[in-house]
Amino acid sequence: MAKNTRLLAAQTLVCVLDGGQSLTNALEKTLIQLENPQEKAFVQAVCYGVCRYYHRLQFLLSQLLDKPIKDAEIYALALVGLYQLAFMRVKTHAAVSETVDATPKKKSWAKNLINALLRRYLREREQLETLVNSNPVAVHSHPKWLISRIENDWSEKAESIFQAANEPPPMVLRVNSLQTTRENYLQQLAGLEIAAEIIETCPSAIRLLKPVAVFSLPNFETGMVSVQDTAAQFATGLLELKAGQRVLDLCAAPAGKTAHILESQNDLECVAVDIDATRMARVETNLQRLNLSAQLIVGDATQPETWWNGKLFDRILVDAPCSALGVIRRHPDIKILRRADDLIALPTLQAEILKAAWSMLKEDGLLVYATCSILKAENENQIEKFLAENSDAQEIPFSENHAKHGWQILTGENSCDGFYYARLRKLNF
Ligand SMILES: C[S@@+](CC[C@H](N)C(=O)[O-])C[C@H]1O[C@@H](n2cnc3c(N)ncnc32)[C@H](O)[C@@H]1O
Repeated sequence: MAKNTRLLAAQTLVCVLDGGQSLTNALEKTLIQLENPQEKAFVQAVCYGVCRYYHRLQFLLSQLLDKPIKDAEIYALALVGLYQLAFMRVKTHAAVSETVDATPKKKSWAKNLINALLRRYLREREQLETLVNSNPVAVHSHPKWLISRIENDWSEKAESIFQAANEPPPMVLRVNSLQTTRENYLQQLAGLEIAAEIIETCPSAIRLLKPVAVFSLPNFETGMVSVQDTAAQFATGLLELKAGQRVLDLCAAPAGKTAHILESQNDLECVAVDIDATRMARVETNLQRLNLSAQLIVGDATQPETWWNGKLFDRILVDAPCSALGVIRRHPDIKILRRADDLIALPTLQAEILKAAWSMLKEDGLLVYATCSILKAENENQIEKFLAENSDAQEIPFSENHAKHGWQILTGENSCDGFYYARLRKLNF
């Protein structure tokens, strides 16, 4: 029997909203049930869109309903209907009737409800949108606690951060310099009429003007190219890698940066460590596709004594576990799933990992600390504290900057994800 795409979208959203699953995982399970690429694209667009605008849609629904919808599936279907009317270029009456028809047979009581609220939205759209403008959670489509955290750190820049976090991100590629040049790869893309341009600020990066499925990228399967945001591609250059060096990638899975490190210099001894065995299995698959190899260790970065052989490293990348608030535009479900409390323990864990990493670095060696966060507690404050406590650490400053220490890229700046980098040299006393 043909699957109803709107119902599938609603059921996927229930897995996120009520089941606490990530959108990536929930969608993966849904999309394998569909064969038609257009249907897949529709379900994906609706699910991402609803997560992106969840807080605004939730506000609109609260204005349209006398009492809340208790059934999770019907609530999600109402969100799916509203999202189509408010944000998608669809024929409105078809969107209403198709959403009403998507109501499961055993819940036919909900047909009138969905119909009534969607039609009311169409009638009262202007007044409702005015109400949205007076409610910060609805306007920015971010939860209240997150609005406060970002405003607290970035005051007048906060508004543009919220806006950028709600924009669909560009698809950025990293060209494998062991296999080809960026110019050559651009020509291969042009041959398939995939419009793309070079990103001047980052030597390995190409931006696609319109996203495509990874498997339609030329030579993706042979590892000529990977998908990685520009901000994440800066890590390798900052490490100043040289032939023969011993490099530690701490917190490495799923190996986006490990792979880039190995592509940039083929004479390195690279050790990649992550605490999560499942994510580490993906490291193996990813490196295999690229025909690269590193020593892979499943281990706790805070306890090097349990896995480290005592041989110091010339370079260390600490891509620390973080709130990921800089990548909301790629993972809008973060706004739904993350809780303020989740952020309490992170700075302590990051500090412990940084301290352990420092103990494994050679004198004159270089450590790069990175997060995909935009919160000062995880970034510049973390480095400020580290510098105060470690007299053998010297910061290598950046010129372009919003931060007291390190380099803070705010979400959307130069089309990048929100990211943070600090470079620390170990002094030779
Ligand atoms: C930001 S992700 C790393 C992304 C990766 N560097 C890349 O570029 O593909 C952070 C990683 O830290 C790992 N992690 C969290 N706590 C850890 C710990 N105590 N020791 C080692 N890894 C840890 C997580 O499993 C996660 O894979």
